[in-house]
Parts: sequence; structure tokens; C-alpha cells
Amino acid sequence: MRTIPVNTNPPYAVTIGPGLLKDCGARLRETIPPCRMAVVTDSVVGALYLETVQESLKAAGYGVSACEFPAGEENKNFHTLSDILEFLAKERLTRTDCLVALGGGVVGDMAGFAAACYLRGIRYVQMPTTLLAAVDSSVGGKTAIDLRAGKNLAGAFLQPAAVLCDTECLNTLPQPVLAGGAAEAVKTAVLSGAGLFDRMEDGGFRFLELEPVIAACVQYKAGVVERDEKEQGERKLLNLGHTVGHAIEKCSGYTIPHGHAVAAGLAIISRSAARLGWMPEARDARRICSALADLGLPVSTEFSPEALAEAALADKKRAGDSITIVVPKSIGACELMQIPVSELLFVIGTGWEA
Ligand code: GLY
Repeated sequence: MRTIPVNTNPPYAVTIGPGLLKDCGARLRETIPPCRMAVVTDSVVGALYLETVQESLKAAGYGVSACEFPAGEENKNFHTLSDILEFLAKERLTRTDCLVALGGGVVGDMAGFAAACYLRGIRYVQMPTTLLAAVDSSVGGKTAIDLRAGKNLAGAFLQPAAVLCDTECLNTLPQPVLAGGAAEAVKTAVLSGAGLFDRMEDGGFRFLELEPVIAACVQYKAGVVERDEKEQGERKLLNLGHTVGHAIEKCSGYTIPHGHAVAAGLAIISRSAARLGWMPEARDARRICSALADLGLPVSTEFSPEALAEAALADKKRAGDSITIVVPKSIGACELMQIPVSELLFVIGTGWEA
């Protein structure tokens, strides 16, 4: 069991280890006084873990209600958000109560956004049940829903009051879902440097205990979020691989999962960086692509550079006539680079071919 503090204002702790869901009530009582807890989850996660969580919360003295919505990125929209908000209002939750986001990235993003909107902001707790949510989306307070125009285009920053990451949930994840989370872990390893990257190389990640890898990713992210909570500068680095990744998701009509799209996006920008001379050691790009491929992740895409550039330019990372991309200069040294939108096609096209 590991606990990582996130020193935002207010601060909170990310606890990682086995058996946390069945213990969640007692754990939360260490920081959250008795109140009503509204558990928000989806149909898949609810069937697996809702009862366990509800029982634990009740045993710890919390009043408990639950709201379940159909699983899937296609439901991360205004309709579901509206249903969650109406549920919170029907249950008469007040500002002293708490929402629990039980699930993967979609649940965490949307329940977090509901917590940020309801009564102009109530407390919420993240209980990530996928690797992607564990290593990335449950930490840092980014909440959002998708709009027809693109992913995560409406949202808010609201830090959770606590994150409880039960590693036992990850044992039963289907391989492609686990691989999607591993893509975000490789991204973090490329940002943070050799120590974590070395451990993940050659598919070794598959044989490692997940807890130390999750802890290393959360530790790195916590530092970034503490220094730049609202993504004014350094936090943009966490978007490594995401400019092209989001474009791939969009071009696929969101049928390609986020982690898989980010893997291909990370591979493309790494090859671009090597081929354009931004990454002096081209071997680093090969190591990144091999690490992704060894995890069963894609390192290329069927969508043309033209289609990707067009989709990427609708992204919120665009500012007027320029767009900020994250360039890996080496493993452990990534930089933000502002380029004219007219150059994005050239950058993507350079790294597009594997
Ligand atoms: N997922 C990137 C961030 O939290 O900033």
C-alpha cells in the first residue's frame, strides 16, 4: 500500500494498493466526516463493484445513494451529465456531501464535472478501476464531457478530496483495456525519464507488479500538477502524444480507445522529432516505439496526415494561428513547442510512416 500526497490547495492523498474498495468507507472516514455519498458509476463497473463500495461506505456511517449510467465514451455527454445532476438534486445532496466517481476515465471525468457544476462545486472522491484512470485521469482534477465538436471540450478543474486506487480491480481488465492504460504510463515514463522507462521497456511492464508503476506515474504527475494546476505551462507536457492521439480518436469516430490513439500519437511525434533533428538520439524514438509495440499498442495509423492535421486543429490546444505541441527531445526531456498551424501537417507527415 502506498500513499502519495498531492499538495494542491486543498491537498489530498492518492492511496494505491489491493483491497481498497472493500475498505473505502473506513479509509475515507480518516479525512471526510459522516455525510451523504452519491456513488456515480457505469453499467459495467457498477455490476462488479457498486455493492462492495456501498456496503463499505454504509458500514463507515455514510448515507449512500447510487447513480449508474450506460458504459461507453459515447455516453460522456450533456445528456448523461444532466441525468447525474438531476439525480444529485433529487437526492438533495448539499455542499457538505460528497460524490464518488467509481470507474474508469469516462466515469471519473464526467462525475468530476458533475461535482464541479452541482451547487457550483461539491466534494468528490475518485475510485479509478482502470489502469488509464489509475496512472493519469483520476489525479489532477481535470473533469470534462465531450461535445459533438470534440473530446473534453466542456469541463472544469476541480481537485478530488481523495483518490483510492484499488489495484485488485486491474487484475480482471481485458488485455486491450490494460494496454490502453499502459500507453499513458509509457507517456509518463518518456516525460519523467530513464528510471521508469527502463522498467517498462521490452514489455517488462506486463510482468511487473502494477502498484510501483502506478505510484511512479502518480508521483510524477503530482509534482507537475502542484506546480501548474490549471495547465498554464508545464502541465501541457502531460499532453505528450495527445495532439495526434486526439485527432486519431476523432477521425475514428471515437471507436479507437484513448490509450491506443495516444500510443500511435506518441510514436508519430517521436519519429517526427528524430527525423526533424529535434531528438539528437534517434535511438530514443525507436525505443519508445518498441516499448509501445511490445505492449500490443499501435505505432501507426490508417488516417492520413492531412486528416489528422485537420482534426488536430479543432483541438483546444490551438491558440489562434499557432498550436502547442509536446516534443520529446530524449527520454526524460520533453519540451513545449509553439508552431504555426500551417506547419502541423508537415510535422505529422514527417513522423507518420513507421
Ligand atoms: N491527462 C493530462 C492532465 O491531467 O493534465
